[in-house]
Amino acid sequence: MSTEIRWNPFDPAHIRDPYRMYKQLQENDPVHCTSRKEWVITRYDDVKSVLKSPAVRVGNRKEWFEKGINYFNQGEADLRYIHEAIHSFILFLNPPDHTRIRNFVNKAWTNRNISNIIAENIEYLLSQIRNKEFDLVNEFAQPLPILTISKVLGIPPADYEYLKDLGKTMIGSINLYHNYRELVALSDAANKFITYFTNQIQLKTDHPDEGLISQLIQQNQIDKELNEKELVSICIFLFIAGEETTAASISTGILHLLRQRHLYEYLKVHPGKLPVAMEELLRYDSPVQLLGRITTTEIIVNGVTIPPESSLIVVLAAANRDPRIFEQPDELNFERVNKKHLTFGWGPHFCMGEWLGRAEITMGINAILKTYPNLHLVDQDLTWGKNISVRCLTKLIVAID
Ligand code: HEM
Repeated sequence: MSTEIRWNPFDPAHIRDPYRMYKQLQENDPVHCTSRKEWVITRYDDVKSVLKSPAVRVGNRKEWFEKGINYFNQGEADLRYIHEAIHSFILFLNPPDHTRIRNFVNKAWTNRNISNIIAENIEYLLSQIRNKEFDLVNEFAQPLPILTISKVLGIPPADYEYLKDLGKTMIGSINLYHNYRELVALSDAANKFITYFTNQIQLKTDHPDEGLISQLIQQNQIDKELNEKELVSICIFLFIAGEETTAASISTGILHLLRQRHLYEYLKVHPGKLPVAMEELLRYDSPVQLLGRITTTEIIVNGVTIPPESSLIVVLAAANRDPRIFEQPDELNFERVNKKHLTFGWGPHFCMGEWLGRAEITMGINAILKTYPNLHLVDQDLTWGKNISVRCLTKLIVAID
């Protein structure tokens, strides 16, 4: 076998199967410096220590966007809205703003009774599937988290269709590279989101309900912590944060169960094993494959010295298959004694919606197993999105019979 190491996350072959590339790096060059002078970190212990290190920060996306916006500013489109919309995205912030806003959201977001909402949404989506063949991604896995977060936030159901497509565009703000056309579409979606949530905040200030937007407003009336622009930006981020990740987890989870049919059959008769199986599916194929970070000072990782202001690519999906931690890591094994996978991140930016994502994935997969005991894959030729940061199927045609 060739031991040549290539880091090329944009190669469609690697998006289809990135694990060979990760394994080569993990075994031969676990702190790999690319030709672009980015440092790719693939071993479990290194990934954890980097994500927890106080000498590492999240990259300043606001600055990168500003540079992109200035570069493309040709007077044809107004790109300012992007900056306003992403201003308080928790994921893009470093202390002290990160700590302040994360603590604020945690205080307001206390209602974790979401099983009824998820169950209702699942029932609705399954009732809409009328053909023998259907697209599990677009008809089930993708709409489920959007419908769910809409209800969590307290958004009127009638607005769901309008926000759904805007959300898909807005998720692009989390990607690293954008061309002019993408920035124009992003700015348009950002503008519409700002108007939408500004109106919702006004409405719910006057007429509060049980939803999370009202809870954020009420918390802010006590703390006087945020201005309206910050509140709007937080709402936009909460709306998009769990969409692609949860959709990817449900659809790749079902894909692996259908490809290893005995596991699908096993879960049908052992539904009690689903929570363990769900964790193993998340470990085996993490929807968030990699995270970006910047060093603030010189750091040493696994004996390698990395200078300050270096870009780090922290590969969660490789860490989850590190044989130093997980025996026979390339095997999907529901009997595995669960070690902590890193699919929801680690350290100060650890996912704030993991409990919601976990509930949606478990209930979603359970409903598919129960409703379609004979489900099978139609198309073996899979189409994946272009972005490996969140690796997701764009469609998955399955058949019921
Ligand atoms: C399977 C589903 C999900 C996965 C795999 C996932 C994964 C992640 C990961 C890896 C991070 C850390 C990013 C970093 O360190 O740079 C993160 C952050 C975050 N996630 Fe999730 N997520 C999921 C679902 C959700 C849901 C449903 C929500 C609900 C709104 C959510 C809200 C957030 C928020 C607010 C952050 C930012 C936390 C911070 O920066 O302090 N996630 N998520």
